[in-house]
Amino acid sequence: MATQATADIGLIGLAVMGQNLVLNMDDHGYTVAVFNRTVEKVDEFVQGPARGTKVIGTHSLEELVQTLKRPRRVMMLVKAGKPVDDFIEQLIPLLEEGDIIIDGGNSNYNDTIRRTKYVESKGLLYIGTGVSGGEEGARHGPSIMPGGSPAAWPHVKPIFQDIAAKVDDGSPCCDWVGEDGAGHFVKMVHNGIEYGDMQIIAEAYHLMKEGLGMSNAAMSEVFGRWNEGQLDSYLIEITRDILGYRSEDGEEIIDKILDTAGQKGTGKWTAVSALEMGIPLTLIGEAVFARFLSALKDERVEASRVLSGPDPAYDGDREAFIRDLEEAVYAAKIISYAQGYMLMRAAAGEYGWNLNYGGIALMWRGGCIIRSVFLGRIKEAFDDDPGLSNLLLAPYFRDAMENAQAAWRRVVARAVALGIPTPALSSALAFFDGYRRERLPANLIQAQRDYFGAHTYERVDRPRGEFFHTNWTGEGGAVTAGSYEA
Ligand code: 6PG
Repeated sequence: MATQATADIGLIGLAVMGQNLVLNMDDHGYTVAVFNRTVEKVDEFVQGPARGTKVIGTHSLEELVQTLKRPRRVMMLVKAGKPVDDFIEQLIPLLEEGDIIIDGGNSNYNDTIRRTKYVESKGLLYIGTGVSGGEEGARHGPSIMPGGSPAAWPHVKPIFQDIAAKVDDGSPCCDWVGEDGAGHFVKMVHNGIEYGDMQIIAEAYHLMKEGLGMSNAAMSEVFGRWNEGQLDSYLIEITRDILGYRSEDGEEIIDKILDTAGQKGTGKWTAVSALEMGIPLTLIGEAVFARFLSALKDERVEASRVLSGPDPAYDGDREAFIRDLEEAVYAAKIISYAQGYMLMRAAAGEYGWNLNYGGIALMWRGGCIIRSVFLGRIKEAFDDDPGLSNLLLAPYFRDAMENAQAAWRRVVARAVALGIPTPALSSALAFFDGYRRERLPANLIQAQRDYFGAHTYERVDRPRGEFFHTNWTGEGGAVTAGSYEA
């Protein structure tokens, strides 16, 4: 008997994210057909977590495709990289014009640009979408950031917006991001910002732990308080819970965890794309480097026996320091998001994407790992001024920086004096102090370049684009090295 085409969407990849997304879709009334490369997993899922649902288990891609209504929507939640290309190759001959292949993994946006072109060349449509929120988000409402073939969007919009997280007014944390790799690019920046937020929080923890000698319980209490104010966010909330957690036998697990941070690559991609596009994404860059430094555990152990620094104990006003720290964390967070938005703006220019910056803040407002009250502020800033060139120039953020900066400077100065590393908090301050300056010392760098390599310079008293060379030593000739930019 031929399989009936009754399923609304097919999903490949029954790891935890895939399973939870399927159950979420089922909750919202969609019939989902599922397939997994290790086919036993299909039966385990259908007879286990999906028992009593409308989920249809299939044992081959052919069977999966046959169960789908047209245009067919097939979503992959498989490991980024080769598995995605392999499934695309296998799906193409099974699908017909107008059918849609969706990649919901953490793929590199360059791959998504390439795949969109390739799949479209076969008469099919492609979507590369970020899905954020971990297991819990996938099950009850993730943030979804789709990009790819615009013609595919109307066909996936109802499903995606139904299963996505909703903000207070009911708006879904999912909207069309843009063509080809735009969705995965925005998800990558989300992850980079996630790295930045986590690093800032880790530095605050380090200052409280080493500088103030606070207990985990006391720090949990501080993060709990911060979570009720301007820092209200998922990552602060879980930090409160992690520091407050004790195992059944009373062990504080946080102190037992090895201090080497892992990473799967999205933070690094964000930093690499910033380097490629010439955007000073310093905070996320520092967050990635801090993870690398943490991973050099053996080297650090060795070095700790040889290299010394000041006594990290702080003997000043503790409550005042904690209040300052809250401001410093907030200020650095603003810098990180301002830099992330600078990168997205540059990418939009480079790839021809028409990104909706307020819409992106709304997508991140709920469901995802970086969700926070703060993102509501960013949304408001873009609502007030859709052409806003930099977040730091919006009145709300300008005032916030004004209010926070004295405290932030005290924290960074204190951290330097105590010898406690704060790469994110302090590089963010250096960025702020550079960005707000009309004149930087780059005139000297230009003079040096011209001195040793005749690289030429522009002058403050002449129009931009005119280049000059000085024969600094009286020995070089008038020949210059040209003025191309990397
Ligand atoms: C999300 C997360 C997720 C990411 C993990 C781990 O949005 O749900 O960003 O996509 O893979 O957070 O990332 P790292 O292993 O690189 O820390």
